[in-house]
Amino acid sequence: RLCGCVSLSKRLYCSSAKRVRVRDALTSLETGSTFRIQGWVRSVRSQKHNLFLHVSDGSSLQPLQVVASSDLNTRDLTFGCAVDITGSLEKSPSNKQNVELQASRIEVVGECNPVDFPFKIKGHHSLEYIRQFPHLRCRTNAFSSLLRIRSQATAAIHSYFRDNNFLQIHTPVITSNDCEGAGELFQVEPAGNEWNSDKENPHFFSVPAYLTVSGQLHLEVMAGAFPAVYTFGPTFRAENSQTRRHLAEFYMVEAEIAFTESLKDLMKIMEGLFKTTTENLLSHCAEDMELFHKYVSPGYMEQVDLMMKRNFNVISYTEAIDILKHSSEQFAFKPEWGCDLQTEHEKYIVQHCGNVPVFVTDYPYELKPFYARDNQDQPQHTAAAVDLLVPGVGELCGGSLREERLELLRTRLAQAGLEDTYAWYLQLREFGSVPHGGFGMGFERYLQCVLGIDNIKDTIPFARFSHSCVL
Ligand code: 4AD
Repeated sequence: RLCGCVSLSKRLYCSSAKRVRVRDALTSLETGSTFRIQGWVRSVRSQKHNLFLHVSDGSSLQPLQVVASSDLNTRDLTFGCAVDITGSLEKSPSNKQNVELQASRIEVVGECNPVDFPFKIKGHHSLEYIRQFPHLRCRTNAFSSLLRIRSQATAAIHSYFRDNNFLQIHTPVITSNDCEGAGELFQVEPAGNEWNSDKENPHFFSVPAYLTVSGQLHLEVMAGAFPAVYTFGPTFRAENSQTRRHLAEFYMVEAEIAFTESLKDLMKIMEGLFKTTTENLLSHCAEDMELFHKYVSPGYMEQVDLMMKRNFNVISYTEAIDILKHSSEQFAFKPEWGCDLQTEHEKYIVQHCGNVPVFVTDYPYELKPFYARDNQDQPQHTAAAVDLLVPGVGELCGGSLREERLELLRTRLAQAGLEDTYAWYLQLREFGSVPHGGFGMGFERYLQCVLGIDNIKDTIPFARFSHSCVL
């Protein structure tokens, strides 16, 4: 019965039964037929002459109940083991589930010693606890739900941009620029120096190269030929801060639109992206979302409802500082016009605005990178930049209109000593340049915000942060 042609290890059976996913067995398959499932045992319970298993294959939060009579080989069946089962899908006599698989063959593909396994049957493990096992946490209900939601959110984001006529651009991971100018760069060089015959130049790319902090500048190039572009990929920041909202490697969704002179256009896209993606999750991942809103962040569904129903607020940075200055809150960082908004300030502003996301516009010019468009206002000199602040997280998106006026841009770059580095960027303004702008949204912060997850490390399959690169 062993199938040598399929498996070199000769451990997998050859079965003519149709292989199906648990989700399909639970929702869309006809009872009375024989199917084969492969997955992991989430619980085992014996009753009289039968064993009742719950088997999960990651396709749904709900496991499939499998009934196995004791004349089958059930010796190594334990919580956590991997199984390959053939059986007849039947209507379940219990009202706890609609269907169950009555097994005619059970194979334990991979044994699991439940004593050493870090997760226990029916154990409620916190996200913090399961974070200690990055190689195993996908076996838990909470983290497998997170991964399904993350995958669906990725698809929803791509759909949103496609439906709104944005072109996807694969911006490079390795780049020679520091878009944000904050110096939070990881430099990229080969591990050894065998490749280098030119001892004069120690750089593999002949210039220092880095992991990207943002795909914005590459999107700006593309906005010179396409009216609306976006990118969605890994982004890297060598931030030495161990906070609950910073990672060294995170995913950023970035959009750039040409022919716009208004932050309003950008805010409309940001709000649309947030609401359309969330709507998609609420309808396609209802059970998984509910798990988070019930057990991880109880009561959080109301917060999500509120964000979906209400229009996002808009205030200027100057108004935000006024609000902070007039509050009775004791801030660790005293708010003054010209200072960067700290997390505690962002939190206060969101609460002040009724726990609904709030756009803060027109930041002090000096706070924003060289590319931000000068509002040329007096006496408080601002840039046409906007951040979206959301409940539980603070800053979710950062964006701006870009300085398209050649001379103003040249002056600013020259002041920073960057005129030569960004000669190509200046040249974009010489050949058919148009007013344009864009934004970036932190994907993990988005997941934090819609799921009510306290720590960003619990939103990404493998978290990278300072002093931690496990696996
Ligand atoms: O505000 P930031 O730095 O904006 C940019 O990088 C722009 N160049 C984007 C653009 O206009 N195309 O970053 C954008 C967002 C932040 O609002 C935040 O949500 C997220 O990226 N982010 C981080 N997320 C996790 N860990 C970090 N270390 C992050 N740094 C920024």
